[in-house]
Amino acid sequence: MKLKMMYSFLNSDINIIEKTLEETVVAESPLLHQASLHLLQAGGKRIRPVFVLLGGKFGNYDIHVMKNVAVALELIHMASLVHDDVIDDAEIRRGQPTIKAKWDNRIAMYTGDYIFARSLELMTNITNPLAHKILSDTIVELCVGEIEQIKDKYRFDQHLRDYLRRIKRKTALLIAASCQLGAVTANVDESVQKKLYQFGYYVGMSFQITDDVLDFVGTEKVLGKPAGGDLLQGNITLPVLFAMENEEIYPEIVKVHENMDRNEIVRIIELIKQSGAIEKSIAISDRYLVKALDILKELPDNRAKKTLRDIAHFIGKRKF
Ligand code: IPE
Ligand code: IPE
Ligand code: MG
Ligand code: MG
Ligand code: MG
Repeated sequence: MKLKMMYSFLNSDINIIEKTLEETVVAESPLLHQASLHLLQAGGKRIRPVFVLLGGKFGNYDIHVMKNVAVALELIHMASLVHDDVIDDAEIRRGQPTIKAKWDNRIAMYTGDYIFARSLELMTNITNPLAHKILSDTIVELCVGEIEQIKDKYRFDQHLRDYLRRIKRKTALLIAASCQLGAVTANVDESVQKKLYQFGYYVGMSFQITDDVLDFVGTEKVLGKPAGGDLLQGNITLPVLFAMENEEIYPEIVKVHENMDRNEIVRIIELIKQSGAIEKSIAISDRYLVKALDILKELPDNRAKKTLRDIAHFIGKRKF
């Protein structure tokens, strides 16, 4: 089943989200408006706002309240992508030139900040201080995660726990917060809020591991972003860590450095792909998914729960 089909019962609400997104990025500065709209209209899975809405379905759901949080989460995600493409030196995102490629790094810095500020503006419609606390804590962690990744580039002596902590911060916590904030906004019982948060955390871990696997095995056409960039950039992801357990491949990987010949890195990427490291990484991703699905069993039965289950399965099999 296609992702969009899974949440088709939310279609009219998703349309409101899309409309609000477009209205929110309107700026006096044509450049800020164009650059934000460029990324927005390029598409994207909108998985974080969907998680907000689904979290809200366990409580008093009013789309006119929920939309503020759902749109804010997509905007924070988008701002992090704009900045991520600067630090990852990425040219293509969502099948289109990145903001840093179409304009430049300086424009991208302020477009990211601008999109981020717009999310804060929407959040002023939410009076519960807990929502603001959850969101700011999450963004702090996201920044730490991205900075840790910069520091850990080309560091081949790192452990699995370093990797897991990094992806928790840069990706999983924002997805966890999306699920939890939906629940907080709809005044869902605290015990259900906590379970939704845990579900989002496990799904988020699986999501980033899959993203890191797709960087090895995916294609630009399907992903909407080039594959193979992580190792070229010195990012040590799970497939690399597993491949380093192989005595023959280990000495090849630790030779990788910033100025290494591109063809040589492409050869090492092939070695990693053939080492069994991809399969091992997928197995870890699946372990997180099983944990996510187990938590769902503890939630009250409803349409949202079924959709969360479908999305978790999609994440396990996703190709984009
Ligand atoms: C990309 O997120 C960044 C990661 C956390 C891996 P998505 O894969 O959700 O990106 P879009 O929003 O669909 O473009
Ligand atoms: C995404 O990590 C993390 C954030 C956006 C904070 P990646 O760097 O792997 O994301 P992609 O692959 O560029 O989408
Ligand atoms: Mg990155
Ligand atoms: Mg990136
Ligand atoms: Mg990636």
